[in-house]
Amino acid sequence: MSFVCTRRRIAGLVLSMLALLTAAVSAQKIEFSAAERSRILTHGPWPPAPALDPGNAWAGRAEAIALGQRLFFDTRLSPDARLACASCHQPALAFADGRARSLGRVELERNAPSLWNAVHERWLGWDGAADSLWSQALRPLLEPRELGSNAAQLRRWLAQDRDLACRWAASFGTLADDDKVLLVQAAKALGAFVGSLQSAATPFDHFRDALAADDGPAQARYPASAQRGLRLFVGRGRCHLCHSGPRFSNGEFADIGAGFFVRPGQVDPGRHGGIQDLHRSEFTLLSHWADAPGETALKTRHVSPQHRNFGEFKVPSLRNVALTAPYLHDGRVPTLAAMVRHYSELDLDRLHADGERILEPLRLSGDEQADLQAFLRSLGDAGARRWQRPVLPTCRR
Ligand code: HEC
Ligand code: HEC
Repeated sequence: MSFVCTRRRIAGLVLSMLALLTAAVSAQKIEFSAAERSRILTHGPWPPAPALDPGNAWAGRAEAIALGQRLFFDTRLSPDARLACASCHQPALAFADGRARSLGRVELERNAPSLWNAVHERWLGWDGAADSLWSQALRPLLEPRELGSNAAQLRRWLAQDRDLACRWAASFGTLADDDKVLLVQAAKALGAFVGSLQSAATPFDHFRDALAADDGPAQARYPASAQRGLRLFVGRGRCHLCHSGPRFSNGEFADIGAGFFVRPGQVDPGRHGGIQDLHRSEFTLLSHWADAPGETALKTRHVSPQHRNFGEFKVPSLRNVALTAPYLHDGRVPTLAAMVRHYSELDLDRLHADGERILEPLRLSGDEQADLQAFLRSLGDAGARRWQRPVLPTCRR
């Protein structure tokens, strides 16, 4: 009799402990509606299918990635050995530079974007003036205000550096006589390197996968404030309409009323100027410099500037956004808190009259602003600021 009693008591105890546990778990788990759930699932899975720099036959090749890594970090890429790509795209700053506007030989007009996941971008630069990583790399390489380099500098450096020359030969064979061929080769190696940077899964991704698998306890590990922020993001905030998909960007351009004056009397035309620059460029996916670009060149053929593009900038990916303050194309917004406030207090008079009206001032409470920030922070992968330069195997030929 007493034996049965004890067993019952133990069973009762276990049951009540289980009930307590479930209560604790459900306290941490928001019940999302079917519509919210399906929207949330569109932000994954992560990592996405691998992508390659379009029009770049060296993309994904180990020897070209290694050569690109050498070029990226070395100031000898610029004639006065003062700047490297890594001066403005620093691994410890998630491949951004932490400044509002980048500093080349002079201060530039724009903020340096992080290069994580750039291979998945449809257009490169805040105005989308480039249609591939390799053509984007040519701009800072040649631009006098940035690296201000040229083929003669590359030839000098190759003549002095046996390791570099060996890696160059491993990718491209005999040194080309034509200066433009040489510069495009350097750009393609840089494109191969930048294209290899893909960030890892984040707390949000673990939550999203748990939601997909209906795994309640795993969902509950995601902070409640981030869950409430996520609900705002895909709901009342309508953020997901532009910051969509696994990268949290639709790859398009928009005006969020941030203003586009560079200095009094001078504006940054944004996407409008970007499309014009793209069509003027000698190095697009439509040019003979592109290796078998296939379908990816269609976007370049069909894009044309519309009036509404004036003052539009690229919808940035929000992965690792907490690591790359300050924000926007000119770095005018110093913190994530200020970014959330921008959307909360939006000044509709600063938006273009034409185009789709998605945005309106959200008038978020203090708690809601904190929740949205908690969600944005959960899009961070801790490894994105700890990238270590791989030690390259010795080049032998
Ligand atoms: C002086 C600072 C500076 C240097 C040096 C520099 N960049 Fe950048 N980078 C920027 C800025 C600023 C932008 C945004 C440009 C724009 O919007 O037109 C940018 C944009 C990019 C992008 C586009 C990213 C995106 O998501 O749209 C890539 C790729 C890139 N840089 C690669 C490179 C490579 C490769 C080098 C070396 C050849 C390099 N950068 C050198 C400042 C710099
Ligand atoms: C109409 C499209 C659109 C909507 C809706 C939208 N954004 Fe944006 N977002 C953009 C664009 C475009 C930029 C860059 C603007 C610029 O640089 O001038 C941006 C920039 C940002 C940035 C700065 C990122 C960086 O790296 O500089 C954050 C953070 C951000 N948005 C979060 C949000 C949140 C949160 C919401 C919802 C409350 C939201 N966005 C709604 C288009 C949109």
